[in-house]
Amino acid sequence: MTKHTLFTPHTAGKIELKNRIVMAPLTRNRARPEDDTPHDLHVTYYTQRAGAGLIITEATQITPEGKGYAWTPGIYSEAQVDAWKRVTDSVHAAGGKIVMQLWHVGRVSHTSLQEDGKKPVAPSPIASGAPTFDGTQMIDTSEPRALEVAEIPRLLDEYRHAAANAKKAGFDGIELHAANGYLLDQFMKDGPNKREDTYGGSLENRTRLTFEVLDAILTVWEPGRVGIRLSPFSGANGATDSDPAALADYVVGRLARYDLAYLHMIEGETGGPRSWPNETDLAALKAKFGGTWMGNNGYDRELALKNVADGPADLVAFGVPYIANPDLAQRLELDAELNAADKSTFYGGGAKGYTDYPFLSEAELKKAG
Ligand SMILES: Cc1cc2nc3c(=O)[nH]c(=O)nc-3n(C[C@H](O)[C@H](O)[C@H](O)COP(=O)(O)O)c2cc1C
Repeated sequence: MTKHTLFTPHTAGKIELKNRIVMAPLTRNRARPEDDTPHDLHVTYYTQRAGAGLIITEATQITPEGKGYAWTPGIYSEAQVDAWKRVTDSVHAAGGKIVMQLWHVGRVSHTSLQEDGKKPVAPSPIASGAPTFDGTQMIDTSEPRALEVAEIPRLLDEYRHAAANAKKAGFDGIELHAANGYLLDQFMKDGPNKREDTYGGSLENRTRLTFEVLDAILTVWEPGRVGIRLSPFSGANGATDSDPAALADYVVGRLARYDLAYLHMIEGETGGPRSWPNETDLAALKAKFGGTWMGNNGYDRELALKNVADGPADLVAFGVPYIANPDLAQRLELDAELNAADKSTFYGGGAKGYTDYPFLSEAELKKAG
């Protein structure tokens, strides 16, 4: 029997994937509080999921300023590089590929999570309205201060430094997080961005920071090992735009000029409906990009098989299904039943709901195979 395309290899830029099933980036808030490093549990968790064609790490802050939630990991210190190296070595030994998602939360933070209780930074001094978790409770995010133009070179250096650290830590590439209402998405959308300088107003101005960051990390990594995540149609973390169709069209058009590993599109409202403006044709956007298109959001087996076969996606990223199914790729291939995810253990905690979801048993494997 010939394999369905979803289960066949694909080369995304310079990254060779053994199948087209991707583990989406998933924040799980289990890093060591004292230094924001991953530890043994993370090694186990990611290694368990090495059957994916590609693993994208949980969002990982490029600087202390880029942190917005308790117990999320970073990639700015030597200790973090060493800790992540243990994860990449183990995933590679298990035959997997892994890229790191580089993150700056911008205004989705709280003064208590910032060094010296400083205000978080954003395009404009407008609070996100989204909640965050400070290690004890859910709290409202703080009112941010507007980033000054003079600070942008410093920010670009921090992205460059984090990208170089990810390379030292042995990743196969990096994914630039430009989605879900975090810093780069805040700049791109006209809801949170009310600036009147060269970083606000026109599409060219609002997307300037994203492309400057992309250019900065491309001084460290070849484009074939860099992906980018976008969510133009999502209002996640309070970041909305008055014309998402135009924003998507503009950004994808410009990204087409880079020879990136992939474009990772959240198709619709993050974790919600797969809906986008009527004037947006996802197939046309994919054609405009021209490279590897990674679709995400609400995919099940049937939709993944269909979209990969018919062309709307080259790769499919699964979020919640990967939380609950370490062997998701195998389960999808065998059309086996999936474990249900326990929402109460998504954020924070230890092994429970993290590394203890069952793999298919020998009996189930026999039955399915
Ligand atoms: C627990 C949890 C953590 C998430 N963390 C991240 C993250 O760190 N970075 C990111 O880009 N998206 C994050 N997301 C969004 C997912 O990557 C994905 O876009 C979303 O779950 C929709 O995909 P799905 O329907 O396959 O779950 C998270 C979602 C969940 C449920």
